[in-house]
Amino acid sequence: MSIQKIGIILNGVTGRMGTNQHLVRSILGIMRQGGITVSDELTLMPDPILTGRNENKLKALATAHECAKTGPIKYTTDLGKVLADQHYQIFFDSSGTLQRAGFVEQAVKAGKAIYCEKPTAIETKEALRLAELCEKAGLKNGVVQDKLWLPGLRKLQMLKEQGFFGKILSVRGEFGYWVFTGHVHDQPAQRPSWNYRKNDGGGIIVDMLCHWRYVIDNLFGEVKSLSCLGATHIPERIDEAGKPYACDTDDSAYATFELHNGIVCHFNSSWNVRVRRDDLLTLQVDGTHGSAVAGLRKCWAQGASATPKPTWNPDIDSPINHFDHWLEVPDSTSYDNAFKIQWELFIKHVVLGTPFRWSLREGAKGVQLAELGLKSWAERRWIDVPGL
Ligand SMILES: NC(=O)c1ccc[n+]([C@@H]2O[C@H](COP(=O)([O-])OP(=O)(O)OC[C@H]3O[C@@H](n4cnc5c(N)ncnc54)[C@H](O)[C@@H]3O)[C@@H](O)[C@H]2O)c1
Repeated sequence: MSIQKIGIILNGVTGRMGTNQHLVRSILGIMRQGGITVSDELTLMPDPILTGRNENKLKALATAHECAKTGPIKYTTDLGKVLADQHYQIFFDSSGTLQRAGFVEQAVKAGKAIYCEKPTAIETKEALRLAELCEKAGLKNGVVQDKLWLPGLRKLQMLKEQGFFGKILSVRGEFGYWVFTGHVHDQPAQRPSWNYRKNDGGGIIVDMLCHWRYVIDNLFGEVKSLSCLGATHIPERIDEAGKPYACDTDDSAYATFELHNGIVCHFNSSWNVRVRRDDLLTLQVDGTHGSAVAGLRKCWAQGASATPKPTWNPDIDSPINHFDHWLEVPDSTSYDNAFKIQWELFIKHVVLGTPFRWSLREGAKGVQLAELGLKSWAERRWIDVPGL
């Protein structure tokens, strides 16, 4: 058995996503489990180095997470030096959206395989330019599309493959939760303030429509056109330094997508909504033969024969408990962390050449949907989505 070390540069991972999902749950998760066993003879073992601007933050992050299984975690503020080091095959970026292009360009020049957080850019033109940079340089590349590996969504996909829904008619996506504004001392804001400033790459349309694009494309069909209404419901929040700032970009989005196959998808996305539903994201799929509601991990289904007959009568309490006629879809396999699954696929793609279709070009489709969503809102009209 040989263990092949795979040098991975993790850039911008002192942030929320970088630390929790990419460093701790994915890369260190893979190291703690003993690497990725690809055959009886070979195991791929990530060998990460953290890069960023602030040495103290990098050091604190590295020391907080090292353990016997991972050993000391390397870090440096000298990105140029590690990019020049041939040991590092993969460059990953989860810095801010607006910083992405600059870092990707540098890593492409250094000939690294590129993997990064979504969105890859704010504008489609820029997202496509980055995809083409990688393609022309012949570099393997990928974008995080984590929701595809959520257990709840995988269960939906399984029901679809089994023909449970019959003809799918519509999909309702409800995403969001209350993000504290920070005005109340003991309810600090749980998202970074740049999310609410346009010039810093913020806005829920840019953030969430790229997720909805790959979820819809992969599970339900190609998007034909969309109508999107954004809103800035909360005009002021408190930043990381405790100072009030003006929110000048959308914190909620109400978007309808018409697919080429006739399915209608409506997704509400909001950081100003209190949760009284099964999960922070729920997707309800209604079909001629059955319906299902998926949360992040669980999924409930109601077939045609289990569908009750409701009667509209507001004068009495409902004789039907509408939650009674749903059956929970059981776990039928093990479901690892969604980000980690995609990381393992990307590492195998880079080292072994196994297929990986979630490329920067695919990521650009998400940026396109977000850009068209903003346009639809600005012009108050339906917009067709051209092929990319
Ligand atoms: N896949 C998902 O579900 C998901 C969820 C949230 C955010 N994201 C994306 O992940 C990215 C990061 O979001 P976040 O919520 O973690 O934000 P964050 O503000 O918590 O983290 C951003 C990180 O980038 C670093 N950074 C900023 N400028 C830099 C520079 N010039 N050089 C090096 N590092 C720099 C910051 O120090 C910080 O560590 C964004 O692009 C965001 O859209 C993805």
